Amino acid sequence: MTTTTQIIREQFLEFFQSRDHMIIPGASLVPSNDPTLLLINSGMAPIKPYFTAEAVPISPRLCNVQKCIRTNDIEDVGDRSHLTFFEMLGSWSIGDYFKDVAVELAGDLLMGKLNIPQSKLYATVYKGNDTIGLAYDEESHRAWERLGFKSNQIVPLGDEDNLWGPAGDTGPCGPCTEVFIDLGDKTGIGSYEETGIFNTRRYIEIWNAGVFMQLNKNADGSYAPLPFTSVDTGAGLERLTMAINGNENVYQEEPYTLLLTQMPSVFSQHECRVVADHVRAASHLISDGVSPGRNGREYITRRLIRRMETIAACHRTKIPYPELLNVVQAKDGRNHEEFKKSDALIREVVAAEVAVFSRTLSSGLKAFDKVTRKLNGSAELPSQHAFNIVTAHGFPLEALEQIATTRGLRIDRPGVELLMDRHKALSRGAPKPK
Ligand code: GLY
Repeated sequence: MTTTTQIIREQFLEFFQSRDHMIIPGASLVPSNDPTLLLINSGMAPIKPYFTAEAVPISPRLCNVQKCIRTNDIEDVGDRSHLTFFEMLGSWSIGDYFKDVAVELAGDLLMGKLNIPQSKLYATVYKGNDTIGLAYDEESHRAWERLGFKSNQIVPLGDEDNLWGPAGDTGPCGPCTEVFIDLGDKTGIGSYEETGIFNTRRYIEIWNAGVFMQLNKNADGSYAPLPFTSVDTGAGLERLTMAINGNENVYQEEPYTLLLTQMPSVFSQHECRVVADHVRAASHLISDGVSPGRNGREYITRRLIRRMETIAACHRTKIPYPELLNVVQAKDGRNHEEFKKSDALIREVVAAEVAVFSRTLSSGLKAFDKVTRKLNGSAELPSQHAFNIVTAHGFPLEALEQIATTRGLRIDRPGVELLMDRHKALSRGAPKPK
């Protein structure tokens, strides 16, 4: 039987509440008093001051569902599991329990409450690193063994995978233990037991069962101990639901399933997924006060809308925003009162941004078509032509690349960027290069 993100969200909160965790509200996507972060990217980001003892929580055990945005891997959106906007299920011990209890809770949640068979689960533990004074995480290893995990279901990993955080450049962080689900032989990838390789196309992370917050990263890259140890957990709701349903990509879960049915039929599957992701992300950003603009977080909203518009322009069609926003609203308005209240504002801001960009888009497209008619079958758009379109029409290079890819053409991005840098230097009065 399939489940929904709504059911998993409710089961998660119920579980942690029954284990004495207080449910706290999720925060806005815009960080408050945190210059290290452009946007909230994890459940712990809005509650960082609790880990550093700069603030005292209402209870030492907390849980919630937090809206998050991550755009560092925006190019991967549309694959199996990347989303720019997602909801993170999180639970915390602030100076209360540590590794043993965290692992026990993870087992009770995943195998007890959510009924995932233990045979499908793998746990990763931190390998240790002498230079920061951390040894192999024996304590978590033993805790997983107590839950019945065999030694080949416990995978030691290093800093890159299992030293989590900080959420910005500096702040609380620590080693972690994560749980993965095995999608099995149908992936065509050999198992960890057979190959000794823990391939994340076969094994999908579903729950960061514990970042063991014990370090504070300083601006110079050094680490200092935190005043006390804490636990920070996190799971992407959409991805966890996908894994529980035995699905292979997050777009098989709502609201994406419904969004995909509303897309123009000319869009490729990948384009449908990108638009489904971006419309949800942009509308939540606008709801939290981040209107499209030239810099910083405002530019992220602008970029998301421009990417959708460029996809539509490539096919000479329009994005059905009213219908897409109806779907997002029906799903997220239920859990986020502020989102429901901003419905009219979201529609207005999206329409205004689309109107502004459409003029640039249509003049850039015309120039692109004119140039490409003269290419005589070449697979590459010459850098000078691409540069001319970008500068004469104020056309974003990213949008030009998107269009070129759809039409089967390459752009030499570094080549265009070099021309742009030279152009900028000349406009500033630098001598002409020889
Ligand atoms: N804060 C834990 C995580 O994002 O995985």
